[in-house]
Amino acid sequence: MTTPLYDLVIRGGTVGSATGSFAADVAVTGERIVAIGEALQPGRREIDASGKLVLPGGVDAHAHIEQVSAGGLLNADSFESATASAAFGGTTTVLCFAAQHRGNDLRKVVTDYSVRARRGAMIDYAFHLIIANPDAKTLETDLPALIGEGHASIKIFMTYDLIKIDDEPLLDLLLTARQNRALVCVHAENHGMISWMGKKLLQKGYSAPKYHAASHPRGSEAEAFTRLIAAAALLDQPIMIFHVSTEEGAAVIRQARGQGLKVFAETCPQYLFLTRHDLDKPGLEGAKWMCSPPPREVSDQDALWRALALGDIQTISSDHAPYAFDETGKLSAGPNPNFKQIANGLPGLETRLPLLFDAMVTKARPEFAGRGLEAFVNLTATAPAALYNLAGKGAIQVGLDADIAIWDPRKTVTITDATMHDRTGFTPFHGCSVTGWPVHVLARGRDVVADGACVGEPGSGRWLGREGGWAAEPTGRLAPDMDPARNFGAALL
Ligand code: URP
Ligand code: ZN
Ligand code: ZN
Repeated sequence: MTTPLYDLVIRGGTVGSATGSFAADVAVTGERIVAIGEALQPGRREIDASGKLVLPGGVDAHAHIEQVSAGGLLNADSFESATASAAFGGTTTVLCFAAQHRGNDLRKVVTDYSVRARRGAMIDYAFHLIIANPDAKTLETDLPALIGEGHASIKIFMTYDLIKIDDEPLLDLLLTARQNRALVCVHAENHGMISWMGKKLLQKGYSAPKYHAASHPRGSEAEAFTRLIAAAALLDQPIMIFHVSTEEGAAVIRQARGQGLKVFAETCPQYLFLTRHDLDKPGLEGAKWMCSPPPREVSDQDALWRALALGDIQTISSDHAPYAFDETGKLSAGPNPNFKQIANGLPGLETRLPLLFDAMVTKARPEFAGRGLEAFVNLTATAPAALYNLAGKGAIQVGLDADIAIWDPRKTVTITDATMHDRTGFTPFHGCSVTGWPVHVLARGRDVVADGACVGEPGSGRWLGREGGWAAEPTGRLAPDMDPARNFGAALL
């Protein structure tokens, strides 16, 4: 009898990548993929993947987990529940947040979030550092040191009263990021417009959740993108614009990229599958569809799909922001809140990949011209792994981590509140039927989901330290009069 050569062989499946798919067995030893080929030698364990797709585990680059929100509320998930839910949906790497609030010491914030993640995470993770207190200690000491230690992306908000960063500190942050090679991710909406619209609507008695959508005028997105891009161009600092929701926003990004600026962008399933009409429900029910920016129109969905196919938007994340529909979450301000008092955010770690698989692979959205599987793998795993410089992630390749999702492309599932594994208690996609579901999920060679159950171990997820990488490298096109190293042109006068 032949001695097994590998720990595990996933046999007889179709391996999918960002560039094509092919029939092959995949062998794993320890935590890594060690061979891909036809008729591989036996493994100590074998998984029959005939009729299945063997895909890289998803990389979700935007999820709020066990985090204090913009409004000061702790969200519903622990690292354990969120990462289990992610794995049920085929995701094996998550980028979440270490969220500084005003007055917080950044180093302590990162330590606290690291302790929570180490305790609960069952898939690998990294942090974006939310900066809401850009004082001298944060900018000159803590942030450079933390970037150097492997936290190479920053997140800032241009809106939300408690954490917003105005234009001048935005420049300070962009400069610190440039000097230390970190990518700057931004929630970009015009704060003044949103705040003003909210007051006007409430004064007239328009307080139901559906008015949340009206209070975020579509122009508030394009305006903030334009201002942000101008600031980033001034300092030649690469940026990632989070959760693009409008056609006009996508057009601003296309134009900036056409000028050769390093502007990257993300959208989310809620902007591809929901519209503002989803918020229009009896009573407070619409709160379950309230996120910022809000879902828009069908024409925006079409524009975002086009932008994804053209490469103007490079990745799709969940923006998982779980708040239960009760007094601990959406209704924390009391039983009859107005839309300004309701926490923003939707759960989405588990539904991101199945919804996208169904649209791009099963239903073959025409924008991807017959290459829906490749685009799906790229937008949800390969591209985010590259953008955030996550070594070992995002592809089925020899030498990379054995983060593998085995998909049954024929399995039809109706998504319901009851079938989800996060702690929100509802999903905005309740009742949606999708075809294509991940039936076996491995993270660094360990089973996390098998036979419909979570078998992952809390605490087995590992923190992924990373440098900024290619995405965070400036273009080098900094004009002399904008160059801090040349005294902003003072020497030229
Ligand atoms: O509504 C959302 N997206 N809530 C989460 C916080 C954020 O805006 O990223
Ligand atoms: Zn945001
Ligand atoms: Zn977010």
